Parts: sequence; structure tokens; C-alpha cells
Amino acid sequence: MLADKMLGNLPLFAKNKINSILGTINVGEAGNPKVLLNMLPSLVKGIILREGKQNQPVLIKSGHSANFDFSYGGEKPEMYELYRRAVQNQWDGDKALDWSINVDPFNPEVEILPDSFCPFDAFSSLGIKLTDKEKIKFKYSIVSWMLSQFLHGEQGALFAAAQVTESISWLDGKLYGATQVMDEGRHVEVFLRYIDTKLNKLYQINDNLFVIIDQLMSDSRWDMKFLGMQIMVEGLALGAFSNLYHHTKEPLLKELLKNVIQDEARHVHYGVLALQIHISENLNEKERQEREDWSFEVAILMKNRFLAHEVYEEWFEGSMKKSDWNKCISNTSGMIDFRNTMFKRLLPNLKYIGLLSPRIAEKYDRAGLMAYAGGKNASQITAAELLA
Ligand SMILES: [Fe+2]
Ligand SMILES: [Fe+2]
Repeated sequence: MLADKMLGNLPLFAKNKINSILGTINVGEAGNPKVLLNMLPSLVKGIILREGKQNQPVLIKSGHSANFDFSYGGEKPEMYELYRRAVQNQWDGDKALDWSINVDPFNPEVEILPDSFCPFDAFSSLGIKLTDKEKIKFKYSIVSWMLSQFLHGEQGALFAAAQVTESISWLDGKLYGATQVMDEGRHVEVFLRYIDTKLNKLYQINDNLFVIIDQLMSDSRWDMKFLGMQIMVEGLALGAFSNLYHHTKEPLLKELLKNVIQDEARHVHYGVLALQIHISENLNEKERQEREDWSFEVAILMKNRFLAHEVYEEWFEGSMKKSDWNKCISNTSGMIDFRNTMFKRLLPNLKYIGLLSPRIAEKYDRAGLMAYAGGKNASQITAAELLA
């Protein structure tokens, strides 16, 4: 990193801090000052003040209005159909999963996560050799970190779903939203229970995830919340869940993810449906471009910066440069696969809702992400296909 040379003999800790802030200020690749300006307060809260890591509740003010419609008009049959499906497919987090299964994260016979997520060879080439015992412990850290981020994301999804349910104008959207609030509550329940009773290790929220959630929750426009949560966070989470579902050998986690994926497939479907209508019918070109640029910033934030820094801080802060860690962790085959699945889910959805016009496609292309744009979007793909 450029800053490494400029910062000379500063202690490693200070260099890392400065690099992290510089790296974050470096957002703005979409070149839209309005988007950057909107993001700034959340960047300050998340990256500089690290509000998500102060071990106290974070209060996020939201300026949205509840949309109270006493005419009960404006039917949206596809949304109503999704609502019916959601009502029929509710499940009980306590009964649907076999919580009596004994989970031992240190048992190499039943791997929660394969070695392909851990850069042990890359560590060796940096002169850091872990013993077999340390390797198992490290893997335990990575999987606990992943599930902790899923949990924090689910809590954000719970609140965002509640906010959107209030502020969306279509009654069928509100009915559907009510089922999603219940779904997200259940997701918080099951992820927390798994972390709490099976892993016993909870990591704090990743700074970048905090920034995204803080920004979409504090934005007063329902469609920005929607875009942030239903398309970006949930779309990427759906990819992440399917990836872990396919890799894990641990039966309880596999079953848990299978159930959650079926709900999430519905959530993203609802998201693309509502936004496709809203963006094509209600927004002018300037407003559409703002959403397009914002999605791009968030995609890049998630591509480059969702790099388990909380695990780095626990294991290697002071003994390894953060830039080396970033390289190691992002180049593991597991993480490459993880990113591929995430963006394969995301890009077709952006295209479907009208946020992948040629002006931004060029930027996605430069970021190496356009290759993912060709697949099925959430309105075409079924939960069975996601699990296959
Ligand atoms: Fe969820
Ligand atoms: Fe969801």
C-alpha cells in the first residue's frame, strides 16, 4: 500500500489504523458526490468511531414516514402470492431443527468449514506457521466470525423489514413485509442459538457491514432501505448462506441454513419485484442513477473489505501487516468461491431492477464483476435451485 511507504517507521498498529481509514475514504469509485456525502456520516460512525464495537446499543435515527392508506387499493397480485406462500411456509425455529445434535467445532471428522477458507500456506510463506491445533482453532474463529456477521446482518434485516413494512405504499407489500419481519426474527433466533449454544463465540460486527446497515436504516427513503437490505445485503447473504450450506459437513448448521435460504429466496424475490416496479415507474433518471451509483459503492465495499478483520485483530494484529492479511484471506479458494456465489446472486438482480445500465456496467467490468451478470435473477430462481 502507498501509505506503508509514506508512514515510515510508525508502529504497525498505527500504520494499520491509518491504512484502514485511507482505504475507506477511498470509496467513491462511482464518482457520485451525492452518494458519497450520504455515506459519510455512516463511514465516520462505522470506521472512525467504530460505534458497532463499543459494547453498547447503537441508536440509529430514521426519518421515514409510515404510509397509512385507508383506501386499501393498488393490488399487486405477485406480492400477494408471495405473501400467501410466506404464510404457508412459516417454520418454528425450535421444532424444525434438531437442537439435540452435539456440535464439536474442533472435531476434524465433522468439519463445519473446510480448510479451503484458511490461508495456511500463505501464512507459511510469510513465516507464520500454525500447529495443527492452532489451525483447528483458527478455522473455528473464521466460522464463528462468519456466523456472527450473519447474525448481525439478520438483526439489521429485522429492523429494515419493519421499517419498509411501515413505509411502503402497497398494501400487498405491507402484508408480505409482515411475514418477512417474522422470518427475520426467526433467523436472529436460530443463528443466535447456534452461536450461543454450539459455538460459544460471538464476534463484533464488521465495520463495513455496520456502515451499510447504518446508512440504509438512517435513510428516510423506503426504496433506499429496500435496495440496501433486500437486494444488496440479502442478495449477498443469500450467496454466502448457499456457499456455506454446500461446504459444511455439520448437520445442524446445514439444516438451519437450508431453512433460512428458503425464506431468503422469497425476500430477495420480493425485493426485485417491488424495486423493478418502483424504479421503472416512479423514479426520474437522476434518481435512478443515484441508486445505481450507491449499489455500486456498496458492492465494492463488500467485495474489497469484507475480510474478517475482527479475526485478524484477534490473531495477528502486531505480527502481520493488515495488507498481507487482506491478500491472504481474499485469495483462499473458499473465499474466492464465496465471493463468486455472492456476486452471481447480486448482479442479475441489479440488472433486472434497472440498476445495471451501460454507464455503470463499465465500472462493474473494471472491478471484474460483470462476468456475474448473466445468470438468473431472484424472480426466476427457486429455493430448490439455490440448494441444488
Ligand atoms: Fe434473514
Ligand atoms: Fe431476509
